[in-house]
Order: sequence, then structure tokens, then C-alpha cells
Amino acid sequence: PRKIIIDTDPGQDDAVAIMLALASPEVEVLGVVAVAGNVPLALTTRNALIVCELSGKPETRVFAGCDRPMLRPLVTAEAVHGVTGLDGPVLPEPTMALQTQHGVDFIIETLRREPSQTVTLCALGPLTNIATALQRAPDIIPRIQQIVLMGGAYFELGNVTPVAEFNIYVDPQAADIVFKSGISIVVMPLDVTHKALTSPQRIAAFRDLKTEPGRLVAAWTDFFERFDKQKYGSEGAPLHDPCVIAWLIRPELFQGRVINVEIETQSDLTLGMTVADWWRVTNRPANALFINALDADGFYALLTERIGRL
Ligand code: BDR
Ligand code: CA
Repeated sequence: PRKIIIDTDPGQDDAVAIMLALASPEVEVLGVVAVAGNVPLALTTRNALIVCELSGKPETRVFAGCDRPMLRPLVTAEAVHGVTGLDGPVLPEPTMALQTQHGVDFIIETLRREPSQTVTLCALGPLTNIATALQRAPDIIPRIQQIVLMGGAYFELGNVTPVAEFNIYVDPQAADIVFKSGISIVVMPLDVTHKALTSPQRIAAFRDLKTEPGRLVAAWTDFFERFDKQKYGSEGAPLHDPCVIAWLIRPELFQGRVINVEIETQSDLTLGMTVADWWRVTNRPANALFINALDADGFYALLTERIGRL
């Protein structure tokens, strides 16, 4: 299996992504690191613990990382995820223990210990922990196999400002460090996640698993869908973060282009914009595989089958 570290700010869609990873033999989750994002760090950490526990994997190592972006004050998204970050179903308090090591130290130590180019970082939230690790320990940069991240947008533009996607907007400096690092990067922007929409049938399929994880995923996606329907009048809700894990397991479900992506860090108006050279109109070197299409039915079939294994 491919060894991964999940860096995350759960978040209902993060929760589904974590469950997908924990259910899938193609990946081995070395650890789950929480970051401040959708809600403050204390809550994303708690939520990461709850998700591992409710997945029946209390042995998963969960760490707390950075509690704020590198330079800017934290922006959160309670309007989308609810005050707990995991609103929807009633959840118990976690009983499994949080690791005492700081999440950034865990990332650094793991990359130094494991054979070079065998660990992939899966980023489902702002890139604060990962960029901090790269900055503090540049020796790990050539050792990272790949960074697969949910963030950014091109044709679909912004969901938090007119041009910026939430994960990049929250910590644009961190994103800039990651995109300039030279590490192999795969990006799941809104262009693809807006094609991974929930529907009543897809949510019912989770509920019909008749298991506790299936019921939870149905309740979380239901909560998400109601928000998007009310706010945007859209058909379903994008299940962003599971795209990252699904790509590792079934890359043939996705399509994209290898292009140059730069992050706007200066302008107030366009802060956090992912300037993606989709049409290759510059000579800037390609630094990312930018995904823009997926087989949504295949994606939901995979998700349902895997959640059913938990
Ligand atoms: C991203 O922002 C968060 O609200 C979601 O969990 C996802 O990671 C989508 O813009
Ligand atoms: Ca997230």
C-alpha cells in the first residue's frame, strides 16, 4: 500500500475522506494531522479523533498541528460546516487519545525515518502544517513522494471570495511555499470537486449500507447538501476532500493537465487566487497536475463500496 499522511480540518467532507482512506487497502494511513481551517484547531482535532474512532480504527495516530495560518489571522467556515465543523448527526465525545507530538514534528520525523519517496502527503485543509514543515526542515523536500491536495479553482473560480477557494485563501503564504517547492503536486480544485455532487440517490446508498459509518456519511452529506441547495439553489453539494483519496486509489476516474500554478499572495482583491496556466500561455514551468474532470458515478460507487467495509 501507498503510505500517506492525511493533513485535515474536519469538516464533513474531510471526515468522509478520512473514512475512505481508513477503509482502503491501497493506502496505509501513517497518521492524521489536524490543522486550523473550517473551525479552530481544538475542534478539527476533536473531529479527527471522532472520525477515526467511529470508523472502528482507534489505533490511528492523530496529531494536532498549527492553530493559525503562517501570516494571516484564521478565517473559518462555520456557515458551511456548522459550529462544531461536523454538524449533522449527534456525535459522542472521542475517547481515543491524541498523540502528544506536534503534528508538524510528526510530519518531519516521519519523512526523515521512512525511505525517501515513499510517503505521500494528502492535504484536505489549509496548507499551514505542510508549509511549516517544508520551511523548518527543507531536507524533507526531496524525500516527499507527492503532495495530493484539495484546493484552488480555475474555471469554477472562488467559493470564499469571487476568485479564491477556501483552503488556499485561508493560508496563501503556505500554499505559495508548497507550489514553489518543486515537489510533485496533484491538485483537486473546485473544477473537479464541483462535479462530485451529492444527490438524494447517492446519499440514500450510504444510508442503505445499514452500518454506523454509512449512517454517519449519509447524515454528513445530507447536512452539506441542504446548505448548498439553500444557498446556491444547486442540485447537490460538492464532496471536495474525498477526491484526494479517490485519486490515489482509482486515478483512472480523473482527468487533468500538467500545468503551471502560482498563488496570489499580495493583492487584497484576489488574495489566494490559484493562477492556473490552463492554456499554457506562459513559459512558466509546469509544477502541478491540475484535475478538472471525474467519473462521478464511479467515484460514488467506490465511496459507497468502501464505506461499506468499515
Ligand atoms: C474546502 O474547504 C473546506 O470547507 C472543505 O472541507 C474543503 O476542504 C473546499 O473549498
Ligand atoms: Ca477540508
